[in-house]
Amino acid sequence: MGVSRRSFLSSAVAAGIAGPPLFVAGAAGAAPASGFDAAVAAADRIAARFGTAAADPAAAAADLELWREVQAAWAVDRSILNLENGGLQPACAYVNQAFGEAWRYANEAPSYTNARILWPKVEQVRARLARAFGCDTEEMAITRNTTEGFLAVALGFPMERGDEVLTTTQDYHRFRNAFLQRQEREGIVLRSIQLPIPAEDAGEVVRRFEEAITRRTRVILLSHLFQLTGQVMPIRAVVQMARARNILVIVDGAHGFSHVPATRDGLDCDVYTTSLHKWLGAPHGTGFLYVRRELIPKIWPLMPSVPPPAGFTRDDIRKFEARGTASAAPFLAIGAALDVVDRIGLERKMARLVWLRERWVAKVAELPGVRFNTSRRPGLGGAIMNVDFEGLHPVALAKWLWDKHRALVAGIENAEFRGIRVVPAIYTTEDELDRFADLLLHARKRGIG
Ligand SMILES: Cc1ncc(COP(=O)(O)O)c(C=O)c1O
Repeated sequence: MGVSRRSFLSSAVAAGIAGPPLFVAGAAGAAPASGFDAAVAAADRIAARFGTAAADPAAAAADLELWREVQAAWAVDRSILNLENGGLQPACAYVNQAFGEAWRYANEAPSYTNARILWPKVEQVRARLARAFGCDTEEMAITRNTTEGFLAVALGFPMERGDEVLTTTQDYHRFRNAFLQRQEREGIVLRSIQLPIPAEDAGEVVRRFEEAITRRTRVILLSHLFQLTGQVMPIRAVVQMARARNILVIVDGAHGFSHVPATRDGLDCDVYTTSLHKWLGAPHGTGFLYVRRELIPKIWPLMPSVPPPAGFTRDDIRKFEARGTASAAPFLAIGAALDVVDRIGLERKMARLVWLRERWVAKVAELPGVRFNTSRRPGLGGAIMNVDFEGLHPVALAKWLWDKHRALVAGIENAEFRGIRVVPAIYTTEDELDRFADLLLHARKRGIG
């Protein structure tokens, strides 16, 4: 079935190719932009291929032929062995095309096309994200990244002098700064606990939090997956323990959504902030903030936005989106990224990410002096692995991998652990991971000197 540029703009950008056309734009008659046909065709091939794939995620994850179309849909530089997908992931050609189409259209007459036509359509992306996360549309704010959502809650949640925030030493270092600023300005207190590495016992994690709670603890900040190890935290158990004590848990979901199971009801969380430019593969500068409905009026937004009509009411989740003039294009293209995952199937995607990790990990697991800082047990990790090789300094190893082999990983050393963080993504091929494992075997046997 042919897809015209008009219907692409109308449906793929905002509501998914399967959705109804949303608008007919002035650009509809123009010649297709370069890459347009290819991007749409690639998405169609993914849909066709996965339409007949095994329903069982584990079987699909191991079906090498199945993933060829996915790998081809990402126009990445394969001369780089990019296993540093923890910071920012590339979007596939289809998402880039959706973004480009919206951006180009927005520039035809921005006060009209961007402001009046495109921005209202972001509401449909809000509804799709809410469905994907399993919350109400009115609990879903579309942000630029995890940080923006986090700061809204960290700075906007009322606390008094002496109130305490509890986090772990492995939580995102920059997020501590928000609370340290409140510590300086308002006299709140930030406290951190240590957790085992890897933390495999949910009960132990909950216990360590419980032991550190005082009668002044108001907030817990906890990552869904830790940044440096990719270790999954028992969010549901921590939230339920904290809620019973009237403590708010801010879940830093930067690495959760579209990577490991992440729904509101699964996690039972009250606040979840994530980036969509990581695991969803949406345009860079996109994310969301979920806030449970009863909490919304209690949290001040980063940018003042009351009262209407200039802003939003205290109860409106959109108050967290007050950011001044911005392009709707990246936010609309979130819809295209959701399309791609829908076509692959989220369960299959998640299974494949673990499969990709195990593809190289299994090859080095028995080497002497290997220490995994991320649990390999089911449910406790995704694609991310942090591993240390005794006698090979991780920073030197990462440098050797890059300088000599154009293999990109992060070398990490801190007070608690050290290792290289290896992060494949959905577009990574098994050949790339085999090559990477060979490099590690070589480094172990012959050294990197
Ligand atoms: C655990 C964690 N939290 C928060 C962030 C911040 O994400 P962003 O810069 O997209 O806001 C990161 C970024 O890598 C992260 O790893």
